[in-house]
Amino acid sequence: KTYKIAVIAGDGIGLEVMPEGLRCLQAASKKHGFTLSLTEFDFASCDYYEKNGKMLPDDWVELLKPFDAIYFGAVGDPRRYPDHITLWGSLLQFRRQFDQYVNLRPVRLIPGVQSPLALRKPGDEKIDFWVVRENTEGEYSEIGGRIFTGTSREFVTQETIMTRIGTDRILDYAFKLAQGRPRKLLTSATKSNGISITMPYWDERVVEMSKKFPDVKVEKYHIDILTAHFVARPQSFDVVVGSNLFGDILSDLGPAITGTIGIAPSGNINPTGEWPSLFEPVHGSAPDIYGKKIANPVGMIWAGQMMLLHLGETAAAEDMLSAIEQVLGRGDFSEITPDMGGKGRTEILGRAIEKAILDM
Ligand code: NAI
Ligand code: MG
Repeated sequence: KTYKIAVIAGDGIGLEVMPEGLRCLQAASKKHGFTLSLTEFDFASCDYYEKNGKMLPDDWVELLKPFDAIYFGAVGDPRRYPDHITLWGSLLQFRRQFDQYVNLRPVRLIPGVQSPLALRKPGDEKIDFWVVRENTEGEYSEIGGRIFTGTSREFVTQETIMTRIGTDRILDYAFKLAQGRPRKLLTSATKSNGISITMPYWDERVVEMSKKFPDVKVEKYHIDILTAHFVARPQSFDVVVGSNLFGDILSDLGPAITGTIGIAPSGNINPTGEWPSLFEPVHGSAPDIYGKKIANPVGMIWAGQMMLLHLGETAAAEDMLSAIEQVLGRGDFSEITPDMGGKGRTEILGRAIEKAILDM
């Protein structure tokens, strides 16, 4: 089987971690007998913008549509161009045009990675859950406005949009994800005690959807106490679903309780398959360390692992995750990068994980 992958490294350390991600993906594909047909693109970068005065070629939709997935590094360099030009002109366009209505992030405590939760001890229950964020509507709407600007009567509004289609499709995705896991537990983030129109609607749709998934246990928490539970008992979650804003908060908090920004991956997914989904590390282009070749490649590699899961290559994805766990777990200072307390470099860590995949 052959999968067509669009490879966009972007800016800064995106250019440094991408080769390590590809190296590990190639190892996994070789081992499991499928082919990745990779096409590299230089757009969605500051260099492309400098040459062309735009972030993307005019035919980017037709160019990218035929791909099974997009493997993305990082974009932006505030020293060269403002983020609203670079990010808005690329990543956010992909998200909208390709209707990537799910943002998915794993929260998993990897052996050897120092969790900021100092109370966690070896032998504690495992932290292993998913955060599912609604990625297209909700609180991040463009409906609203400001009047009487600059006067004492200044008046500003911004509407939250919840549609039946938008709410149901994210809940359907989250319920299915929970149904496929051993614990089958879905946690819904809400705030229906304070936000009295949209959030009760969200809760109502959760109840309605749960009728279609009788084997999935459902719980709901208000977002404020839920953030506290993330910190106090992260091991008790399985799949957590939230609106665009609540999901945004939880999908940063989740990875933050299990380690460094350098290892966290993210998927922007169009589950219908009509459009390509995009997989990327959570981190940005890190101009402060670009060029030193010390960027942690694990976020990029793990994003590749999520891409293989999405493509249905489950066994290869399992090997990739085990390889990451094995290499980080042995905590060899000559391999792990400085952000994890080691002396390793991007390529050394990438090659170590590649070897672990081939040796699985
Ligand atoms: P950043 O994630 O690039 O860096 C934040 C801090 O974490 C820096 O100190 C950096 O050195 C460190 N860091 C990040 N990734 C690392 C890695 N793999 N290994 C070791 N250390 C790592 O966020 P920042 O500095 O706010 O943004 C820089 C640029 O990246 C901006 O233009 C921003 O808009 C863009 N950005 C792009 C994203 C994307 O492409 N999805 C996401 C976040 C930011
Ligand atoms: Mg965020």
